[in-house]
Amino acid sequence: MDQVLPSARSRGRIVVIGGDGFCGWPTALRLSADGYDVTIVDNLVRRRIDEELGVDSLTPIADLPVRLETWSRLGKPEIGFEEIDVAEDYAALRACLERLRPEAVVHFGEQRSAPYSMRNPTAKRYTVANNIRATHNLLCAIVELGLDPHVVHLGTMGVYGYDGDGLEIPEGYLRVKVANDEGDLFDRSILYPTNPGSVYHLTKSMDQLLFQYYAKNDDLRITDLHQGIVWGTQTDETRLDERLVNRFDYDGDYGTVLNRFLMQSAVGHPLTVHGTGGQTRAFINIADTVNCIALALADPPEAGDPVRIRNQMTETHRVRDLAHLVADKTGAEVALVDNPRNEAAENDLRVSNRSFLDAGLNPITLAEGLLDESISIARKYRDRCDLSRIPATSLWTERQAPGRPEFA
Ligand SMILES: NC(=O)c1ccc[n+]([C@@H]2O[C@H](COP(=O)([O-])OP(=O)(O)OC[C@H]3O[C@@H](n4cnc5c(N)ncnc54)[C@H](O)[C@@H]3O)[C@@H](O)[C@H]2O)c1
Repeated sequence: MDQVLPSARSRGRIVVIGGDGFCGWPTALRLSADGYDVTIVDNLVRRRIDEELGVDSLTPIADLPVRLETWSRLGKPEIGFEEIDVAEDYAALRACLERLRPEAVVHFGEQRSAPYSMRNPTAKRYTVANNIRATHNLLCAIVELGLDPHVVHLGTMGVYGYDGDGLEIPEGYLRVKVANDEGDLFDRSILYPTNPGSVYHLTKSMDQLLFQYYAKNDDLRITDLHQGIVWGTQTDETRLDERLVNRFDYDGDYGTVLNRFLMQSAVGHPLTVHGTGGQTRAFINIADTVNCIALALADPPEAGDPVRIRNQMTETHRVRDLAHLVADKTGAEVALVDNPRNEAAENDLRVSNRSFLDAGLNPITLAEGLLDESISIARKYRDRCDLSRIPATSLWTERQAPGRPEFA
């Protein structure tokens, strides 16, 4: 098959798998603006899941061809698009990689909602089949074709679990000492023990082993970004035209916690805090997601290196503190509701994000003005909100079913 040559001014060719999604779309635009030749690979399943759930992004997102045409009309480099299910259609993925021979592949193409992954057996099985096969197909195709792209994968902080013993979570690896029968100690560096809290997180834990194996056996160059919960909507590029606006999920399945609070405050709904709200989580603004990916691409590992794991988060907060922050700014009420998740009621969280800070990341924090931008976006589009979609309905275990004592 013919190979596509990068244009003369290009910094290199990048395939963005999942480039129509919440993190993938602003990343694709940023990389294009930075001078990379970008091709989005996506099967558009996220838009179909909205239909299945009867919800829609709070912001009116344009169809992908309209998004891409708008970008070109602004005088920006053309972004390619291939509609491929990377989990199901290995041949199409392989042909695409063979033709494009990318210098890097950024892999966002997975089912990313923990509550959705817990809805029912069909959703659990779909999440495992989709996520594991998507990742494995990508790695397998790269090896089959003898390519050497830098693979940058979006993983999650959730693989570490939230044990809350106050120890700082390192960037992926734990240094341990192992004793032999004679008591002699040996140094080892092992993947930080995973402790997934949902079927979705389980798939990200399994991805880690796929990466470890392919980096070791086939010298693939892989960066795995353990990302915190993303908040915010817009980036410099998505602000350029309303048809480039990023998606804003607010529903009980896909809405991430802070964006859900912002939207709830905009429509006069109480901010629904699960349990005591004592869960501490790691957060990052969408613009910093994009910044971190650009930094990761600029600093690939060498062939033969272990997987480079970087914690992609900028601050930690307790969920109830976030609710009160938003309530103080907007006058909303805070309501404690039953927690649908099977998790510790309270935890502490300390995380190292040294590698991005050392690389020059200047984090956007909640204390800065972008919270106001998110509030104004939520207010602008509040008429598009379907209040019935706000509650989280997926339960983690049968024990929590209505009528059972644990749920009362
Ligand atoms: N959003 C967050 O807060 C967050 C936090 C931590 C990690 N992440 C990770 O970042 C990545 C992107 O998250 P997001 O919020 O942009 O999710 P998203 O659902 O908005 O985007 C994922 C994109 O991948 C596509 N996709 C899914 N399966 C595919 C397949 N088999 N073939 C081709 N395309 C496929 C979807 O259509 C969608 O456009 C995910 O892997 C997620 O686990 C997200």
